[in-house]
This record gives sequence, structure tokens and C-alpha cells, in this order.
Amino acid sequence: MQGARAAATMAQGIEHKHGDVHLKALTVFGHEEIAAMHGAGGRAQAGAAGVFKSFSWPQQGLLANDTQALDALGVAMGIIHIPLAGNQLGGHLTGVADGHGVGERIEPLLRIGLFGKVAGLNFNVNLILGHDLADAWTDPNANCENTRMSTTYRIAPSILSADFARLGEEVRNVIAAGADWIHFDVMDNHYVPNLTFGPMICQALKPHAKTHDGKAVPIDVHLMISPVDALAGAFIDAGADLVSFHPDASSHVHRSIQAIKARGCQAGLVFNPAEPLDVLDWVIDDIDLILIMSVNPGFGGQGFIDSALRKVEAARQRIRACGRDIRLEVDGGIKADNIRRVADAGADTFVAGSAIFGKPDYQAVIQQMRAALG
Ligand code: DX5
Ligand code: ZN
Repeated sequence: MQGARAAATMAQGIEHKHGDVHLKALTVFGHEEIAAMHGAGGRAQAGAAGVFKSFSWPQQGLLANDTQALDALGVAMGIIHIPLAGNQLGGHLTGVADGHGVGERIEPLLRIGLFGKVAGLNFNVNLILGHDLADAWTDPNANCENTRMSTTYRIAPSILSADFARLGEEVRNVIAAGADWIHFDVMDNHYVPNLTFGPMICQALKPHAKTHDGKAVPIDVHLMISPVDALAGAFIDAGADLVSFHPDASSHVHRSIQAIKARGCQAGLVFNPAEPLDVLDWVIDDIDLILIMSVNPGFGGQGFIDSALRKVEAARQRIRACGRDIRLEVDGGIKADNIRRVADAGADTFVAGSAIFGKPDYQAVIQQMRAALG
């Protein structure tokens, strides 16, 4: 209910600050009132109503499922700083996915943020928001960044370094220690010079990928195999939540992505240390995850390749430019003492194999990593 109270504070702030114009602004808060707003007069208000109209359909979906809401908030923040036409806005919102719930506060934030910019009124965020929300909005340490709102960091332990004789137990233990995702490295002794596990192992581990209170923990399958499509499908059938592949391992990258997504799974592309990001020019609108390799794929326990940081920065820029919610994951050589640098470059998801499974106390390592992330 704190969110609802804060929302009321925000609405009052607008009325108080901007007088009659903002009384009109408040009237467009209900979808059914958008039409009335169209007929109401001034060009600025009509423009705002148009944007609300384009915004209203995905917003209804978002509000119905607040697990997606925080990422929409990020989009709305972007709109405040970068005016967008209504049709562009609609396109951006179709990409919203996979965030964390923020409950009731999302709706007024989205609407006020949008209206404030489109009507050309340029609200001062600190005047509009209640203090609690204003802090969350502007404090870069409040799990947010100034230019990239609402970063949720995820730690994805790679079971490549787990004890293969006790894999189920290892998965349960690392989840109890705080893992957000389980990273599942699939190697075929063809695309990479090593051989690991197939879909049957994934299927066997799926029931273990849960928190103690039964919440599913995503299985993040990293395919180091060629060809891609048949096994990608088999891993989806086996319970994978995300499937990523190396574009150079597929003859038809776009087709492979579509095949993964058509089965209801999230799709990612993986970039080796010496590989450019160019393929993203053509498929970034179709993917959910970019995975930057900071070692050459095939083995755990290798040293972090520093040039990966520049690639992470470049990937982050591309994600910002496209405006969609795409996870940016980094894989290889990540430890508690370098994870901050990787996050500063723009990563939000961190694979760590030997750093976690190579230590007796998984929780202590994951806590050190989170402490470094701040
Ligand atoms: C390498 C794998 C990585 C590896 C990371 O091919 O994709 O996931 O397990 O291991 P560490 O963290 O030990 O470098
Ligand atoms: Zn991996």
C-alpha cells in the first residue's frame, strides 16, 4: 500500500504545481478518458493523449503482470529524457520483458512520466514524487543507475565447475546460497574442444532448480554446439528458460532465434572474445539476452580477457539504442574482485563457475559478489 499512497502524493503534486493544465492531465489517467482528452483542446494535451492511446494497450498487460513492470519503468524514464513519438513508444514497449515486480507504483509513474514530457511541461521529478519514490528514482545506489534505470543484477553460477557426481545437490546448494540463475554450459567436442552434458541432464536437474519455497530458478542454457537448432529444441523441452547460442555456430541465425522463441523460450546470442557484435544490427530486436564471453569457450577456470569490457560497453550502447529490455550477461573469469568492473562496463548478469564452485562456502562468495556490486 505504500506505493498507492506515494502515487496519490504524485498526482497531488502535479495538480498543485501546474494548475489547470494538470487537472486535464489527470483526466487522461483512465483509458476511457483518452478520447475526451482528444477533444479537449490545446495541441500539447492532444499530443499527450495520442501517446497515452498508443501506450495504453501494453500497459494493461504490464499491470496485469507486475513481474514485467520495472523494466517498463525504465522505458518510461528514458522517455522523460528522450522525447519519442507515440508510434516509437509503442514499439519500445512491445519489448518489455523479464523484470522485477514493483507493484502498484508503476502505473502513475509511467503515466506521469509520459505526460510530463509529451505535453512539454518538463516536470521536476523531485517535486512530483513522494520522497521515497524520488529517492529510488534518483539515487544511483538504490539498485538503479542514472542513465539505465532499475538494474537488477543476477548471478548465474555455472555448474561446469560443480561436482558432477552430485549435480542435483550442487544446484540446490548454490540456489540456497543465493544464485539467481543456473548457468548450464553445453559443449559438443566440435564447436569447442570439450564435452559436457545434454538435454537429459537438464531435464534431470530441472526439479532441483527451485528455491526452498518452491519458486523456479531459471535455467540459462549456453550452447557451445554446432549445429544449433535441433538441440536447442531438445533443451527447451527439457526445461530451459533461456537458450543462447553462438551466431557463428548457426547457418541461419535469425531462423535459430525464431525457432527458440516460437517455443516460448527466451533467446540469447553469445559473442566470443574475438568476435564483433555486428550481427546485432539485424537481430537485436528479436533477442532477450546478449552474452559476452570474457574467456574463449570450452573450459572453466580461465583468466578474464580485459577487452571484453569494451565489448560489454558496446553491447550496452546497442541495448540502450534499441530501447528493449535485453539482459547483458558476461561469462568467464568473473570473481568477486573484478565483478564491479564488469558491472561498470554495463553488464547486469554474471556467470561464475570456478569462483563459486571452487570454494567451500558458496554463500560467502555470492555475498562478496553482491557486496562488490553494491
Ligand atoms: C566457458 C563457459 C563458462 C565457464 C565459466 O566455456 O561458458 O560458463 O564455465 O567458468 P569460470 O567462471 O570458471 O571462468
Ligand atoms: Zn557459459
